[in-house]
Amino acid sequence: MKKLALIGCGGIGSYHFSHFLQFKDIELAGFCDLIIGRAENFVKRAGSGKAYSYWRTMLDEVKPDMVFVCIPPTCHGVIEFELIRRSIPFFVEKPLALDPDLARELNRQVAEKKLIAASGFQCRYDNINDAAFNFLKQEKVLTVAASRVGGIPDVDWWRTKSTSGGQLVEQTIHQLDILRYFLGEPDTVYSVASRGYITQDECPGYLSDDLSTTLITFKSGVTATMMTGCYSLNGASWDSKMTFGGRSARMDYELCGSTTIYGIAPEDIAADVEGTVKGDGTQRRNENEQGIRTNSCIDYGTLCDRTFIDAAISGDGSKIRSPYADAYKTVMFALACNKSMETGLPVKVEY
Ligand SMILES: NC(=O)c1ccc[n+]([C@@H]2O[C@H](COP(=O)([O-])OP(=O)(O)OC[C@H]3O[C@@H](n4cnc5c(N)ncnc54)[C@H](O)[C@@H]3O)[C@@H](O)[C@H]2O)c1
Repeated sequence: MKKLALIGCGGIGSYHFSHFLQFKDIELAGFCDLIIGRAENFVKRAGSGKAYSYWRTMLDEVKPDMVFVCIPPTCHGVIEFELIRRSIPFFVEKPLALDPDLARELNRQVAEKKLIAASGFQCRYDNINDAAFNFLKQEKVLTVAASRVGGIPDVDWWRTKSTSGGQLVEQTIHQLDILRYFLGEPDTVYSVASRGYITQDECPGYLSDDLSTTLITFKSGVTATMMTGCYSLNGASWDSKMTFGGRSARMDYELCGSTTIYGIAPEDIAADVEGTVKGDGTQRRNENEQGIRTNSCIDYGTLCDRTFIDAAISGDGSKIRSPYADAYKTVMFALACNKSMETGLPVKVEY
């Protein structure tokens, strides 16, 4: 049996761990966290493997066939360089790094080694994208209005932009990734951030943007806006939404939720989608709004992890929807937005 190891047993580590428990053909061989109790807890729940507080010792002893790296944004670098040196396929959480030079060098070495490496853009595996791609085949999109508004996650490193990258880089990056997935490469970004609404009383140590608005031009000529905020209290959240607008039809896209298409008759699009969207996701008319709705109905997170594991076993990475080289581009896109916020100028997205 191939051996899997996990570095970082915090929030997203737990998410992946819950998927691993479904995979009976993989040995859960090692768990590592600086907080050893977290790794020990995973060993207990898995009923296998050994807990470590130092990842290098784990690599030496366990000799894993694949590794999941689920550490905070500023902790990347030395772990991945060592995995590349040892030619161990790895899955790493987004954002891959906060320093563009580090991201570029990691990407270069992954490519040079032709190593199987994937990232945590699991939304790419959602069935709603089948409906979205059908829409995009039929309608020329001119513009996109996108937004994400929520609160502040309960992890310390998130409160400071220097350790999280800020909300756009840490969270809203999922939507930036979907924009690239659907529309191709961005050309230029112009981002403006606001601070001062979230107080030190409510969030001690908070040192990041409360909200930002970004104008994006794509090489295809499409323009998009992205407004993202983490300022909301209770009912003020409005989640992650994007409206893709063409001249005769539009698609409302809710990340990992649903697509609703307006302006295309069901008979013109349903035949295409039938069979790709299953169960609850079957396309149907929404009685009130006459849109064609497709609901998310698959466990895209498990599928994302399994696709990487299968690739690590077979050596064929062609089914990975977010390979390292592609995730790198999304990170550079997001970091260009941060640069624009800092300089007050439009920034070319460069890879
Ligand atoms: N794909 C997604 O939807 C998604 C969702 C949440 C978080 N994330 C990403 O996952 C990453 C981690 O987020 P989180 O919420 O799990 O954070 P977390 O703080 O809950 O967990 C991170 C864990 O890594 C451990 N760690 C840090 N450095 C380590 C090291 N060198 N060796 C071993 N363990 C180490 C910490 O002790 C901690 O337990 C972030 O980059 C975040 O953006 C992705």
